[in-house]
Amino acid sequence: PIHQRTLLVNGELKMWRGEVRQVRSPVYVTNEEGIQAPVEIGSYPITGKAEADEALAAAVAAYDNGRGRWPTMSVAERIACVEEFTRQILAKRREIVNLIMWEIGKSQADSEKEFDRTIVYIRDTIDALKKLDNDNSRFQIVEGTIGQIRRSPLGITLCMGPYNYPLNETFTTLIPALIMGNVVLFKPPRFGTLLFYPMLEAFRSAFPAGVINTIYGKGSELVPYLMGSGKINVLALIGSSRVADQLKKAHPKSNRLRAVLGLDAKNAAIILPDADLDLAVKECIAGSLSFNGQRCTAIKMILVHQSVAEQFLRRFADAVNALKIGMPWEKGVMITPLPDLEKCAYLTECIEDAKAQGAKVINEGGGTVVETLFKPAVVFPVKEGMKLYREEQFGPVVPIAPFEDIEDALDYIITSDYGQQVSLFGTDPHQIAALVDPLVNQVCRVNLNCQCQRGPDVFPFAGRKDSAEGTLSVHDALRAFSIRSMVAAKQ
Ligand code: G3H
Repeated sequence: PIHQRTLLVNGELKMWRGEVRQVRSPVYVTNEEGIQAPVEIGSYPITGKAEADEALAAAVAAYDNGRGRWPTMSVAERIACVEEFTRQILAKRREIVNLIMWEIGKSQADSEKEFDRTIVYIRDTIDALKKLDNDNSRFQIVEGTIGQIRRSPLGITLCMGPYNYPLNETFTTLIPALIMGNVVLFKPPRFGTLLFYPMLEAFRSAFPAGVINTIYGKGSELVPYLMGSGKINVLALIGSSRVADQLKKAHPKSNRLRAVLGLDAKNAAIILPDADLDLAVKECIAGSLSFNGQRCTAIKMILVHQSVAEQFLRRFADAVNALKIGMPWEKGVMITPLPDLEKCAYLTECIEDAKAQGAKVINEGGGTVVETLFKPAVVFPVKEGMKLYREEQFGPVVPIAPFEDIEDALDYIITSDYGQQVSLFGTDPHQIAALVDPLVNQVCRVNLNCQCQRGPDVFPFAGRKDSAEGTLSVHDALRAFSIRSMVAAKQ
């Protein structure tokens, strides 16, 4: 177990002696009596407003209204700090991967991928920044004015990542924010706090004092409190649309706040009558159920043309029944424990609500194998009025609805509160071509004959409506965390 008692504030690792939260792993091990039991894997500080104030003051002092050492450092020097940090965390790969697995129940293979993808993301960010800086340092002379166009930092950035990609998605905002010269307050997700413990010393030693400060504890109290100070310039949140709304409202001058947000989504897959069903099943399985469907990009609704619904349902239900359910370290496992019992209760409620309105679970799913290990369920036919029709279930329950006319499928997308991605399955190039524009004008990525996903990370990652604000990608994030500015003089 890791009993994390360290706060990183103003370049110091301080010992916390107050209240702590115990962390219970969602993962089970078989104990001596042969019973599958959950494991306590550690605890972390629950700090209060005084510690939040201290972290904020450290960040404000380090930024010093743009005069601090970090925001005035050369790009090359900032890159060197990030490179040093990367070297240090690479040496801790095994420890961090294990913590991802034990803390959020992600399979070992996916936990390794999450770590490795994060390292690639950091390296790609450094390469992209070198090019950007090169472009920006050029002088331009226009009508007798000579200008040096720059990218300048925005200030105090509050970064929060989600539990499903606690390392990777935190770093997709934290690293670009830092490297562009901003200073950061960082609050780890509730499930996924311990895994940052091995990195605290790397943060401390690689960056100047106050450039990165940690916040622990009750996010629902501390984060609105920090926003209320009016001193946060950038809110970087990968999380829920509801929380993002609340936090923006908590800022006294939200017009001065830049928000970089990756939020809820209800991505649909549309299966056209001429779709290659084997391919559609394969992609929809990965799209809807990898990491138990706990991905913002997951396919959370399948709209299937009624002429192929029966065939698709049979094949899809069989494929779901064949998925390996188990603990994260088991080879080939796809479905692993969910973070807590509350999540299981919510999914059961969604299934019961659909059943009460005439839908059925058409595979062997629903219910749990043991505690939070939830058997993936396929629910059909899902209709307007059922929770599963519009809510983002974020778990291993796949709603399917038939459609008769493609206009009905388009209408589902248009009337959704969300607008992240769509997957379209079909083989007629003319029909696909005709659907691409109407779809891409509703969501931010249309996937042709493949699942919805964020990567490769150099591609833009965005969303319309309640799904996002701003665009993230290796390149876009550098822009999101900076402002285009210039130094001008007369020739
Ligand atoms: O949870 C949201 C992530 O952005 C999903 O990323 O599509 O690479 O799994 P992914």
